[in-house]
Amino acid sequence: MARAIETVGVVGLGTMGAGIAEVFARAGLGVIGVEVDAEALERGRGHVHRSTDRAVSRGKLAEAERDEILGRVTFTGSLDDLSDADLVIEAIPEVMDYKRALFTDLDRICRPDTVLATNTSSLSVTAIAATTSRPGQVIGMHFFNPAPVMRLVEVVHTVVTEDGLADEVGALARRLGKTPVTVGDRAGFVVNRLLLGYLNHAATLLERGVASRDDIDNAMKLGAGLPMGPFSLLDLIGLDTSYEVCEVLFQESRDRVHAPAPILRELVTAGLLGRKSGRGFHDHKHAAGQARSAAEPAGRPGVVTVCVLGEGAGELSAKLSSAGAKAGEPHDSDVVIALSRTPVVEHAVRLPHPERLVGLHLAGGDVAEVVSTALTSPDVARAVQDLIRVVGLIPVSCADRAGFVVDALLYPYLNDAVRMYDSGYASMDDIDTAMRLGCGYPAGPFETLDAIGLPAVRDGLRALYAEYREPSFAPAPLLDRLVTARVTSIRGR
Ligand SMILES: NC(=O)c1ccc[n+]([C@@H]2O[C@H](COP(=O)([O-])OP(=O)(O)OC[C@H]3O[C@@H](n4cnc5c(N)ncnc54)[C@H](O)[C@@H]3O)[C@@H](O)[C@H]2O)c1
Repeated sequence: MARAIETVGVVGLGTMGAGIAEVFARAGLGVIGVEVDAEALERGRGHVHRSTDRAVSRGKLAEAERDEILGRVTFTGSLDDLSDADLVIEAIPEVMDYKRALFTDLDRICRPDTVLATNTSSLSVTAIAATTSRPGQVIGMHFFNPAPVMRLVEVVHTVVTEDGLADEVGALARRLGKTPVTVGDRAGFVVNRLLLGYLNHAATLLERGVASRDDIDNAMKLGAGLPMGPFSLLDLIGLDTSYEVCEVLFQESRDRVHAPAPILRELVTAGLLGRKSGRGFHDHKHAAGQARSAAEPAGRPGVVTVCVLGEGAGELSAKLSSAGAKAGEPHDSDVVIALSRTPVVEHAVRLPHPERLVGLHLAGGDVAEVVSTALTSPDVARAVQDLIRVVGLIPVSCADRAGFVVDALLYPYLNDAVRMYDSGYASMDDIDTAMRLGCGYPAGPFETLDAIGLPAVRDGLRALYAEYREPSFAPAPLLDRLVTARVTSIRGR
């Protein structure tokens, strides 16, 4: 029978714990917030008060409601006050030794039927559970930052979690107004595993010189439609946290794509941790003018003769002509644009003037990846960027590598999601929901996969694998089989 959960303990009232305490109190539960010492307790109380005050000043909460919410929270420095809690969730720092010590204490102090939950992002819930005499009643309840705002909760069950507990905790999450997804105990769960793999890969592309920081950020934000570019997001998460999560993922997967990119280590060692330290990939103290704006004014390009080749050439040619460029032939044009989603150097070497060839790939509705080969003249690349701006697109400069920027970052992420689903770890709906709600993505990976088309993603992955020889870029067997069987929708199969 489902237990009644009315009184909840929250241990650690830092960034996450204070928000989690507020979420429970807003849903009408009694909350006992515990901190290490009086100073930390006051800080925690301050977080909860400021957050609810902000909600009042924004008109999202009436003063009387705020007072009721605060009236449901008691603050204490003693774990002994949790002896009668129905559920205790911890949000203390991400250090296994601290968590183990705490769970040993909680196991001793709390009633035998109390559920013990952890908000850990990356540590093994199973290892935490094993420190108690009630491993069946230990579960992960992974909230996202800021807890009062983010709707996703990953409910993490282990091989020893008692039957039905994940459903009970899922129901509790719904009572809090959250959307739970239930997953097993693997490093990074759904969101961090898929997200950090992608972010680390972006750092690797930067290190390989495929494109600049701003070009990669612009490509993923404006070309792939994500809420922010990978380097802005790494800075927001914190490079130290990102490094640690990649490290934990690598320890479990032994997959090179999770091994933290060396640039992360260098920046962390240098104390450049992202927004919290004022500088990471971006300089947040002197933000104005640092990141190159995507919408640079379009300069008037010198009149050039342009030849456009490839699928969609007619349409682009017409646009360029209306922007003042003259149409020419491959042998007599100042610029040859090869519309292509694959590397273009082989086209260049067939031309009398290979230095005049630039590849172009339209990503999303707004971005054009402007691809320079080893032979492209920098003047030609600049001329094409100017032309691209004049026709209202945002140019992203990149090297002539498989997938350029957008596909090179997007397709392996989609592939990871397919592998995750195919391993039985989580359902497609749960993975889609997790990425939409946990990362603010406009669509989940399976929705994106269906929208792009399975054959295009499979072929793109084959090309990425052939180029980088990265084992995890090889198309997931399920994706390969679906394309072979001419199945057009992975979600509808
Ligand atoms: N920050 C995030 O974005 C985020 C998101 C999801 C999950 N998490 C996870 O939540 C947990 C907490 O992270 P955070 O960012 O809130 O950390 P934090 O450092 O902001 O807060 C931790 C708090 O725990 C207190 N604390 C330490 N030891 C304690 C103990 N033994 N008893 C009681 N209180 C103790 C500290 O005084 C501090 O106030 C970690 O496991 C982290 O991985 C963090």
